[in-house]
Amino acid sequence: MTVDQVLMMPAEKYTSTEVLDWERRHLFAGSWTCLGRLTDLFPADAERPVTQRAVAVGDVACLVVRDGETLRMFANTCRHRGHELLPEGEASERRSVLCPYHAWTYDLEGRLIGAKGFREDESFDFAEHGLVELPVRLWEGWVFGHAVHPVGAPEVPSFEEHLGDFTKILAPYPLADLAVGDRHTYEVAANWKVIAENYHECYHCPLIHPELCQVSPPTSGDNYDLPGAWVGGSMVLRDGMRTMSITGELAATPFPGVPPTAVEYVHLLPNLLVSAHPDYVMTHRMVPLSPDRTWVECSWLVLPGADGSVPDPAAAVEFWDITNKQDWGACESVQRGLASPHFRPGPFAPNEDAVAQLVTIISRAYETGRLVP
Ligand code: FES
Ligand code: FE
Repeated sequence: MTVDQVLMMPAEKYTSTEVLDWERRHLFAGSWTCLGRLTDLFPADAERPVTQRAVAVGDVACLVVRDGETLRMFANTCRHRGHELLPEGEASERRSVLCPYHAWTYDLEGRLIGAKGFREDESFDFAEHGLVELPVRLWEGWVFGHAVHPVGAPEVPSFEEHLGDFTKILAPYPLADLAVGDRHTYEVAANWKVIAENYHECYHCPLIHPELCQVSPPTSGDNYDLPGAWVGGSMVLRDGMRTMSITGELAATPFPGVPPTAVEYVHLLPNLLVSAHPDYVMTHRMVPLSPDRTWVECSWLVLPGADGSVPDPAAAVEFWDITNKQDWGACESVQRGLASPHFRPGPFAPNEDAVAQLVTIISRAYETGRLVP
């Protein structure tokens, strides 16, 4: 029996530029997008502390600003004539935000403090020309931004509702304390939803993941159906296997108090996949580049040693790099299939129920503009 007769979405949802533009605005900028680890945006080892970093939140250019413990986000758009304050991805250590076009200057709270030629103009109110402040949240070491409605607007979706019970599933893991043990980035020739759908099922595992099947039985999954903008479930390790690695041996220091035989695979929409193992947490952070291209940042997060050194989880990295590439090959093939005039949406098998759940959430969001009902 198939899953409640939910079908794949029509091909255009994966191939159309118009659909992706809509998703970037409503599902990425308009909900809560993961922008990476706080330590990536503001590296602790920088000579002088980084105070500002330009990022894209969906289709909206933003500037995340850190002043000590305070995190703020602004539209990366000068209030003079709209120049970007910093190019996307770049960082600055300045104690003020300086527009590189005509040198309008803002303080780290977004107030306009310098605008050549306007001091003498009595009709010009500096207070009316501050940067537009946008909602940003730090959760367990990750930074999340909402870029459509300014801070304080009633339309800003609740971050707590967005997370829902995602927090409960990951509560045993010391997420905030983890450091990046290694990282790979990939550019996958597939739509971001094809990658997410592939993540949510192990129906494909027996054929394409021989290494994975040796450490985790592909039929072991159980999925959750709990509040929040997330989908996922857990799988178990085979007897004698201590983690997902080439040999099944631990790849890093095990986390105290977490189930030693379970792996949680949970996806906080729109773009963060969290795979929590007994000794490391792997994440995939997706950034759609075009309908058929997605940038994927895969990070292996581990517990630093007492001296602050970060162990190299090489056995996990090797295992997942093989598995990632097997997955990307499948996703890219699906993307080519979606472009065929003969593609028709197919049904989901019983152990593709998490894919059906994901497709249901996204199809509903196309109607309501919201990931949380
Ligand atoms: Fe920024 Fe002119 S656009 S100072
Ligand atoms: Fe896979």
